This record gives sequence, structure tokens and C-alpha cells, in this order.
Amino acid sequence: MELDLGFFSRRDFLKNLAVFGTANVALWAGGCESCNQQIQNRPTRKNIQELWDNNHSDPVITTYKNAVTAMKALPSSDPRSWQGQMEIHLNKCIHRNWLWLPWHRVYLVYFERICRKLTGDDSFALPYWNWNTHPAVPDPFWDTSSPLFHSPRGVTQTDQADPSIVGTSVLQNILNETSFNLFASGPPPTSDLHAGPDATSGLEATPHNGIHGFVGGDMASFSSPLDPVFYTHHCMCDCMWAHWNIDLNNANTNDPAWANFAINDFVDESGNPVSVNAAVTVLFPILTYQYEPCSLAQEQAPKAPKLTGKELEAFLKAGAPSKLEFGPRFEVRQSISAEVGKPSTTALTVDPGALMSALQGGPHTRLVLTVGDAQMPPKRDFFVRVFLNKPDATGDTPIEDPHFAGSFAFFFDESAMKGHEAAGETSAAPLTGFLVDVTSTLQKLNQAGSLSSNQAQVTLVPVPQVRREAAGEGLTFGRLELAVARF
Ligand code: C2O
Repeated sequence: MELDLGFFSRRDFLKNLAVFGTANVALWAGGCESCNQQIQNRPTRKNIQELWDNNHSDPVITTYKNAVTAMKALPSSDPRSWQGQMEIHLNKCIHRNWLWLPWHRVYLVYFERICRKLTGDDSFALPYWNWNTHPAVPDPFWDTSSPLFHSPRGVTQTDQADPSIVGTSVLQNILNETSFNLFASGPPPTSDLHAGPDATSGLEATPHNGIHGFVGGDMASFSSPLDPVFYTHHCMCDCMWAHWNIDLNNANTNDPAWANFAINDFVDESGNPVSVNAAVTVLFPILTYQYEPCSLAQEQAPKAPKLTGKELEAFLKAGAPSKLEFGPRFEVRQSISAEVGKPSTTALTVDPGALMSALQGGPHTRLVLTVGDAQMPPKRDFFVRVFLNKPDATGDTPIEDPHFAGSFAFFFDESAMKGHEAAGETSAAPLTGFLVDVTSTLQKLNQAGSLSSNQAQVTLVPVPQVRREAAGEGLTFGRLELAVARF
């Protein structure tokens, strides 16, 4: 693969050198055969359950264990220590907007480099937990004598995450998104990067948040990196992003506020602070690591042509405009609550003609449900399934029902918000919100002839996470909107 230096201004390039290591620098600065080799042979991130099934002492698992032990042995004041890595997340993590992807990508890259340095295993690549093919916390995390064990968790070794969070049809819908906003969450609405009110969507809202809640214990809080399963969960999220972007040829946003966002909360393997712009992270999976395919069980073969070399590089660098424009929009503004065991149904007055013509609108027109002005639930042992025109939906309604539209979950930590105040955020629980792409569900309903009414009924069904009772828990929100979204 040949790379061209034009992507970065010289200044950005120098600023970001550290990320890629000397081989890549030499390559960019003129190219060299052995550097090329090094990129070709970059470490491969693999499926941890498969590694374990083949060999309980696979070198990747052994190095991961040794790295955790070595990090725990460092003084907690060292940002490379187990505690130090966790505290970066606790105090600085970015969620509920589209910067969560590059922020956590940088996190993993430096975590992986720290693992290599502390263990001397230079070929180490962080493994991922494919929660689609293996919805239970992988086996290596359950050996009580292993540094990968962590207690307490809210689940046992055999409990499985719900198919409405990690099932193939739900994840396939997310991978089918062509809008970055709907795949990755939307932009932060203000310069306060942590306070997006209605922004969470797709990969973040459903499997990301849902798995944090499913595992429970520390994983349900911003201290989640205390549980070694955290890094393998994020590695899977990162793999899905890479798959969506690189294999399925979907463009990231080219919004300069995203591309130029400087991620500077991390340290390298020597403990030196680093700063990486979000735009640079789009190249990580083609320069510094690669993935063994993390595709879904029975995923439909992607139709995208395979880009390589310069073509791929140009595509990744260019991104695409990613504004979502809403209208017409049909909404109610009133306080609505849904509780575990008490689903809520809200009728929206709609123009069925507008919805039906949007269904013919091609790949850049979607129908999007916004659950907005939501109070972050004080207890989050549940997730929410969304049904359309199915007012009798309950927790027992199967997600194979044609009225099922998607689901979303929560990831938040009140007790961490003090740390985030330094980053300009208030410590009060934020208003939040979720975007659910309901296009394919409305398509099904339209084909069944049940989309002609001027009422659309939206039913939200809070469902307890496995092994959690969640009695009385629920969501209260102030705005519900069904809208045509164009991008
Ligand atoms: Cu910042 Cu999934 O955590």
C-alpha cells in the first residue's frame, strides 16, 4: 500500500507522528520497502472467545493477562497503571455524540501500546469480544485465578445479552445505515462536548450502551475500565466502525469540528502525553492494526466494492457531509413515562402521504424517531424496545414482530460528573435523547397496508437487563417525534 503525505498539513503530520511509529513516518517521508512490510504485517486484533476455544493459553490471552498484572503493579499515580487508565475514562470520557468513536479508538491504541511495552510482546494486538456471535461475557474473564476476572458483575458466565441489543437483525440495521449521524451518534450541540440532548444513535445507543448495562457492576459506570472485559467490548465497537467505514464503504463525517477535534487525554507507552486529531484515527485500521473479520452471524455479504491502496486512503480522508435535515416532522411535547412492566404508547398525528413518499426517497432519506428531552434515568438496569403501531406490545412481544423498530440503552455515571466539570460540564444529570431509524419497520408496515392512518402509535417497552429486576425503573421524556430525515 502506498500512502500519500497530502492528508495532513506538515504541522498536523508532525504533531501526530507518535501514533504511527517510526516505520510509518519513514514510509510517508518517502517510502521504503521494509516499512511497507511492517504495515502489511501490522498486528491483527482477534476474537477472544475463538482464541480461548482453540487454546486457553493462546499468546494473546497470556499477554493480556500479563499486561493487566503489570499495569496493576504500577503506582496508581502513573497514568499507564490499571487505575490510571481507568481514571482517564472516569474523568474525561466522551459519550452521547459522534466523538465517542475516535476518542475510544485513541484510547485502545495507546492501551495496546502500553500492554506491548510492559510485557515485551511487540506483536500483541488487543482481542475483541464479538457479542453478536457470543452474547455472553467470554470465558477467559471467568477464571477466578486470572487477572482477567473481575467482581462483581451483574451477570454470570452463561447469561446472554438480549438479541434486541446484539442480535443480528438489530446490528444489521445499524450496519446498513449510510448516515454517520445515525450510525455513530450526532454532533455535540454546543461546545460543551458532553451534553448532546438528542444525539445518541445506532452503534452507541444499542450495543455499546446495552453491553455496558448487561455486564453491570463496574461496567455500568464510568469506572468500567476496571473490568478487563471493557477493552474487548470497545475493541468490538471499534471493529464495527472499521467494518462499516472500510469494508462497507460508508463515509465518516467531514465536519471540521469532528476532523480537527484534538484528543489529548492519553499518554503513550512511556507515559508522555499525546494529542491526536479525530481525522487521523480513520487511518489507524489501515496503518497500525487490522481486524480479523468481526462480521455478524449470517451477515448479508456487503455489496460495496473493495477499495484498496490510494483509493481507500482517499475515500477515508475525504469523509462526507453528514448533516441530517429533519422535515416534515410530527411531534408531541408532553411529559411521557415508560416503566418496566408499564410500557407507554403515544399517538402522533402524521401525514401518511409524507411518510409514504419518504419511503420512496432513496438511500439519503430516512424516517427517524426521536425520543427527546429525556431525563437520564437514575437507575439503568433496563433497556428500551420501540414498537410502531403495536399498542399492546409488552416485554413478551418478540422482536421478530414486524412492528419492532429497534432498541436503546443508557450509559452514564452521576458520581463521575465532578471530574467532568473540569471539562466544562455540569454535574447535574443531563437531558438526553435517542434517534431510532424506523425506516425498515415503516416499510414493512406500508407493504402490509397498515400505514394509511393519520395516527402513528409509538410504544416504548422498558425491559430489564438479564438477572436485574429493575422494578419501578423507567424513562421520562418530554418530546417524541417522527420525522423525515435527509442527508
Ligand atoms: Cu467510554 Cu463504553 O465507554
